[in-house]
Amino acid sequence: MDSLQDAIDSVNKAKKIASECIYRPKYHFLAPANWMNDPNGPIFYKGEYHLFYQHNPYDDNWGHIHWGHAKSKDLVHWKHLPIALVPSTKSGEEHCFSGSCVNNDGIPSILYTSIGPNKRPETGAEQWLALSEDDMMSWRKYSSNPIMTLKIHGNLDVREWRDPYVWREDDHWYMVLGGHIHNSEKGVVLLYKSSDLIHWTYLNPLCEGKNVDKKTRRNWECPNFFPLGNKYILIVSPHNKVVYSVGSYENYKFTPEEWNYLDHGYVFYAPMTMLDSKKRRLMWAWIRDGGEGGWNGCLTLPRVLTLGADNKLRFKPAPELQILRKECTHMEDIILSEEVSNLFNNIQTNSLEILLELEFIDAKSFKLQFFQPDENKKVDTIGIDIKKGKFWAGKEKGKIDFLNHEKRFLLHIFIDRSVIEVFLNYRECLTSRMYYSSETAKNLIFFIAEGKIKINYLDIWKIESIW
Ligand code: FRU
Repeated sequence: MDSLQDAIDSVNKAKKIASECIYRPKYHFLAPANWMNDPNGPIFYKGEYHLFYQHNPYDDNWGHIHWGHAKSKDLVHWKHLPIALVPSTKSGEEHCFSGSCVNNDGIPSILYTSIGPNKRPETGAEQWLALSEDDMMSWRKYSSNPIMTLKIHGNLDVREWRDPYVWREDDHWYMVLGGHIHNSEKGVVLLYKSSDLIHWTYLNPLCEGKNVDKKTRRNWECPNFFPLGNKYILIVSPHNKVVYSVGSYENYKFTPEEWNYLDHGYVFYAPMTMLDSKKRRLMWAWIRDGGEGGWNGCLTLPRVLTLGADNKLRFKPAPELQILRKECTHMEDIILSEEVSNLFNNIQTNSLEILLELEFIDAKSFKLQFFQPDENKKVDTIGIDIKKGKFWAGKEKGKIDFLNHEKRFLLHIFIDRSVIEVFLNYRECLTSRMYYSSETAKNLIFFIAEGKIKINYLDIWKIESIW
């Protein structure tokens, strides 16, 4: 199980089962079959977007971690490319964990965390380099790997050391890595500097988890660190909901302000960002879980990040996605009270985009139901409760301050079979999963609690597949 050909054969075998699964998304990026998790090393190279991802070609469970690879001209339609990184089992490598891809003066270079039977993730991770000389069609591991071991920290006992995030600044390369300091119960992001991507100097901890609540400060995976507006943003994945902080960066130290959820869903994890040729900060994250076999995991739609005047992030689905819109049903200026159904008859697809602006007149909450379950079964809804300050989609939910004092809400909802992404006023995001078939997607029902709501406008588009 250690050649590229074995991996390709195994993926090809699983494709049929994967394609028959009714829960498998049609317009979210995913591996051709079998397991995937984190997005890795997104990069804009020679006019195309390239994405890599954590991939087990052998199974729909985590294991034998390779780097899958795909590219896109328009950020919407993706073409799968040959697997980029296969674990070098002969050199004691078992998994190629997450990392970055950068263009080093024309040479595409992947920096990633190498894990092996004798290099456990907790205590023995190493940072490795791989290079491509044929425009990323194939990759060669650097002959003198590792480029960094834990020894670089001297006496500092760093655990779970992984997930390089690399950028260029002032004629140097910089890298952050995540983990925690042994016995500290604090996640940490550490900062390094290099002139050639091979020789690295450890600078200092960029940031520690002491100001974050207990649940999210223990260990930090997949750090992303970048300037936005006149601030810096640090994102970390703490084995829990993903958090970010807007803060300042000086003398190689990041001073975080408030910590906020990047997305309120637990199924959203390990996001990765990049700057594209339009200078936009784009982000993808792994959406956990699969369906009935043959596949597991996909990515969020690309989100564009900007900074609001309140020093919090704003999130918009990349506008390029609009090319997928097909038939549209439009409505406007409708007052709703109590239950309203049959607004849309016979939707009969669960590949949809919904854009909805509503105003609370005197209602306390509203929810919408899209799928019709079998009789007596509890059904998942998407909704807002302004009294409780709650926002939910299926089993995932978030508490949101501004729900208590605002009246007008914009909901931008993407339903892609079992995957749901919700943008609320482009200020908060919620990723969720709901398992229903397209036969149950017939109607949109609104339930309004105690009072009235006005729908300013509502658009529903059917969305076509990206493959
Ligand atoms: C996050 C993560 C990373 C690691 C990778 C392994 O989901 O645990 O920290 O590099 O997945 O697949």
